Amino acid sequence: MKIQLETASPLTLDTEALVTFAFEKDDPVDAALAELDRALAGRLKELVVSHELTGKKLDMVLLHYPAGLAAKRLLIVGAGKPEKFSATEMRRLAGAALRYLKGRSVKRLAFLLREPWQHAEAVQLAAEGLLLATVDLDKYKSEKKDHDGVEQALILGAGPDAQAALDRAVVIAESENWERDVANEPSNRLTPTMLAARAREMALESGLAVDILDEKQIEEMKMGGVLGVARGSAEPPRVIVLTYNPPQVKPGSPVVGLVGKAITFDTGGISIKPSKGMEKMKYDMCGGATMLAVMRAIARLKPSVKVVAVVPSSENMPGGRAVKPGDVLVSLSGKTIEVLNTDAEGRLVLADGLAYARRLGCTHLIDAATLTGAVVVALSTINVGVFGSNEAFTASFLETARAAGEKMWHMPLDDDYRDMMKSQIADLQNISSGDGGGASTAAGFLREFVGEEPWIHLDIAGTAWLDDAKPWMAKGASAVAVRTLVDFIFKQ
Ligand code: BES
Ligand code: MN
Ligand code: ZN
Repeated sequence: MKIQLETASPLTLDTEALVTFAFEKDDPVDAALAELDRALAGRLKELVVSHELTGKKLDMVLLHYPAGLAAKRLLIVGAGKPEKFSATEMRRLAGAALRYLKGRSVKRLAFLLREPWQHAEAVQLAAEGLLLATVDLDKYKSEKKDHDGVEQALILGAGPDAQAALDRAVVIAESENWERDVANEPSNRLTPTMLAARAREMALESGLAVDILDEKQIEEMKMGGVLGVARGSAEPPRVIVLTYNPPQVKPGSPVVGLVGKAITFDTGGISIKPSKGMEKMKYDMCGGATMLAVMRAIARLKPSVKVVAVVPSSENMPGGRAVKPGDVLVSLSGKTIEVLNTDAEGRLVLADGLAYARRLGCTHLIDAATLTGAVVVALSTINVGVFGSNEAFTASFLETARAAGEKMWHMPLDDDYRDMMKSQIADLQNISSGDGGGASTAAGFLREFVGEEPWIHLDIAGTAWLDDAKPWMAKGASAVAVRTLVDFIFKQ
């Protein structure tokens, strides 16, 4: 779908569908919609009187051949209460409009921004919402939907200098869609080898340096965590390393390390998971795909900060050579880990990923992982769990997430949680010996593999995947955290 700014009048623009939005208040047809209402000879006000146009969140009012407008349709989307409206709502509203019209075979639409959402940020949010909404999950259907969806979206009513915001939104949204495309693949279509191949292809296209460690190099390097997890599988592991090296680095700027868990399928290993719902564990590579997508975006947006992504990838399978409960692994850092539960595998590959990122000279670390069921218990599918070792770094990250309209919540990381991960026979054990707090004890474990450098851990187990389609987005991978991470890198 092509997306462009347009300065023509919404009244005379010839389009299949003109879209705008109304707030839920005493009179949803406020000053911002007055011009439209006049052109329509007061039709909008009439719809308010008849309680058809309420402005309630995502309520759709569709008029066909609206007399007074050149557009063939007018769609007014409910924006909800103005005081509750936010960046998140803006993105969702644009996406919901696109999906609503796509279902009606509209190919060309025009999205009209309205006061007070006409600034560059609104353009970015609308463009992103529209682009994310274009994705559907019919790759493996013999019978595709009979239409290819919306081909052109215009954005009207933006203030000046919105072009840069639009360009940025397109890069970020296309990178998010790249993440979703990769993450939606079933595990037989995306083994660690295949993920590495896709990462390499994307890196070369984007102008990123790429280094892929194969099973031999992983072994030579003594990445005991990755090797331990991979032992039970016939598929060899990979460690994907992408580097963005800007022509000009801000003096004194950090080297940011992005570490992502990419378990292409998590059976649990010998501590095998129940079969009900196990198919979902193909999305256990979302942390890795997230970090790769961030690299794709920054290669194009070019911040003046060096960024390195390290993505350890493996299957977690119960094969004959699989790691067994009680086994002890020696991680890359030298720390030993007693594996009490083979299903707590994400932290084993991340331990090596974090240690490797430090070896590569990263001064600031962020990891993303579908790490624990416990974070789903705590935060459901709504918020990303955020853990951090450095108060200022974490606060700045959370502020970035808020501005980007991504829901994230600060979780505790007291030393006491790490103490629950002490083993009787090794340095650490991979599950806690106490009750509860599984998301924090996992974070406490990871913390053992970073040093003094600021570090943030994102547990995206609940948020990386939508179990059901939303009005604004298809079911499947959500690309959560990509845009926040991109914005955050620009802040460094
Ligand atoms: N990949 C899972 C975490 C997960 C659970 C992601 C549910 C998405 C939805 C992870 O590898 C795992 O199995 N974690 C275990 C850890 C436990 C054994 C300490 C969990 O959370 O149950
Ligand atoms: Mn697991
Ligand atoms: Zn897992």
